[in-house]
Amino acid sequence: MKIGFIGAGKVGFSLGKFFTQGGIRLTGYYSRRPESAREAASFTGAKAYDSPDDLVKESDAIFLTVPDGSISSVYLSLEKSLIPGKMICHCSGSMTVAEAFPGISQTGAYGYSIHPLFPVSNRLTSYRELPGAFFCLEGNGPHLSMWQELLESLGASAQIISGESKVRYHAACAISSNLVCGLVQESLDLLETCGFSRETALRAITPLLRSNLEHIIESDPVSALTGPVERCDVRTVEKHLACFPSQEERDLYSAVSRKLVELASLKHPERDYRSLKDVLRKGENKNEP
Ligand SMILES: NC(=O)c1ccc[n+]([C@@H]2O[C@H](COP(=O)([O-])OP(=O)(O)OC[C@H]3O[C@@H](n4cnc5c(N)ncnc54)[C@H](OP(=O)(O)O)[C@@H]3O)[C@@H](O)[C@H]2O)c1
Repeated sequence: MKIGFIGAGKVGFSLGKFFTQGGIRLTGYYSRRPESAREAASFTGAKAYDSPDDLVKESDAIFLTVPDGSISSVYLSLEKSLIPGKMICHCSGSMTVAEAFPGISQTGAYGYSIHPLFPVSNRLTSYRELPGAFFCLEGNGPHLSMWQELLESLGASAQIISGESKVRYHAACAISSNLVCGLVQESLDLLETCGFSRETALRAITPLLRSNLEHIIESDPVSALTGPVERCDVRTVEKHLACFPSQEERDLYSAVSRKLVELASLKHPERDYRSLKDVLRKGENKNEP
């Protein structure tokens, strides 16, 4: 199998190098700016193309590693007589194959979404970390298991999901990464109101964050859970709810704490958390008559 890339950016460079290092052949790169295609080609020992259609002709699998907003237009601009039997792939976490490649099932080509669940931040060095990455695969063709085996043979992990699950999968990933940033920021903001500088606040919570994350990864969130919700300490939770300067912050604390009650109930099935649930519900509805 020969793989070509349209879009010589961070993911194009990194996946290309990851594949060649694993002994997989690349045709090369086409990109909006010819110099990007040339740089990627020289980085991976492949060829730079002046036309996407020439790259498609010579490749069995074509990765459209362009920004999410351009995937469909790049796909629609490909010469359709060239794609029957080819694998057309994108790397977006949020788009399904059907959304990215409209009408692909009528063309004789196969569409795949091959999403690295990994921050690919550097064109030249990120490929080194891809063997430890996790990929999520979705698509309309018969090659999903082939992609899974190929990625696993290169040291990565891979899971196949349905197109119907794709957006929920992406929301789940956003919770683990982006929403954690939001919660940490909320914690820093509150510490600043207590007189901490931004720098000291981050330093103060670093051991807490690090050790908590390590426990979650080593076991799971239920075992890692500590604190007033786990202890069913209703009085402390009431005091927390009363200290927030805004209803928005109370809502955030209440919503996440209600999820923690679920975890705490699994950890201590003998404990009765009903009074705590009532307090959290009241905290959330404080502005309601
Ligand atoms: N970076 C990540 O952490 C990450 C992680 C998982 C998935 N992804 C997915 O990977 C895909 C690529 O992301 P990226 O981070 O590699 O983006 P990127 O660094 O911005 O690279 C995209 C490249 O596409 C080229 N391009 C833009 N429009 C084009 C067009 N119409 N035709 C041909 N080439 C075009 C640009 O190259 P020129 O220099 O030629 O203008 C640009 O360098 C996206 O679907 C993204 O969601 C990214």
